[in-house]
Amino acid sequence: MWSGNPNGSLVVEATDLRPGRALDVGAGEGGDVIWLAQQGWQVTASDVSSRALDTILDEANRRGLAVTCQLADANAREPFARNAFDLVTAAYASIPRTPDLRGVHNVLDAVAPGGTLVVLSHDLEAMRRTEHQQRPFDPEAYLHIDDFAAVLDAAQGWTIEVNDKRPRPAGSASAARHADDRVLRARRAG
Ligand SMILES: C[S@@+](CC[C@H](N)C(=O)[O-])C[C@H]1O[C@@H](n2cnc3c(N)ncnc32)[C@H](O)[C@@H]1O
Repeated sequence: MWSGNPNGSLVVEATDLRPGRALDVGAGEGGDVIWLAQQGWQVTASDVSSRALDTILDEANRRGLAVTCQLADANAREPFARNAFDLVTAAYASIPRTPDLRGVHNVLDAVAPGGTLVVLSHDLEAMRRTEHQQRPFDPEAYLHIDDFAAVLDAAQGWTIEVNDKRPRPAGSASAARHADDRVLRARRAG
């Protein structure tokens, strides 16, 4: 069911940014896409699921919002326009983790000079402490905030502004299975 709600942690991190071009990677049901468009961002919704993008387009059309949809695998070769977006966000995007962390590099490459990256994920520490067989999924199979932080730490021209664990704001789009969010915000030098 389409909740329509943006992720609260994205709202916190993006509210004070000046709207420009935004890319939502793994946009899913599109609550963040719709919210960003309503704030004046020119949004590209990207997902590996065409069904998700169809839903987003329908909802954007219903609301009279202009949204661009791009079917793309974040692990593909150059899936996104490079240096192109003032805001790139990936919220709970279940992007498979590859040994070269290609998905991380692709997401970072999409950020324009002077732009902002916001990545949200579930806090998986509790799951990591449980027996492997009892986990609903293997947290190591997907890109995690620590992967983004490690690449950013090693990269030139990036400043990590926020790397937090915090209670998930009420009304968030994503499932309530994990109570805490990991939140990463980084700025690329202009
Ligand atoms: C849990 S949903 C999150 C959706 C939305 N961002 C939210 O916060 O509600 C994860 C999304 O990641 C997308 N996804 C999975 N693998 C992907 C990939 N390789 N590239 C891009 N998107 C991917 C899925 O199709 C799904 O829509």
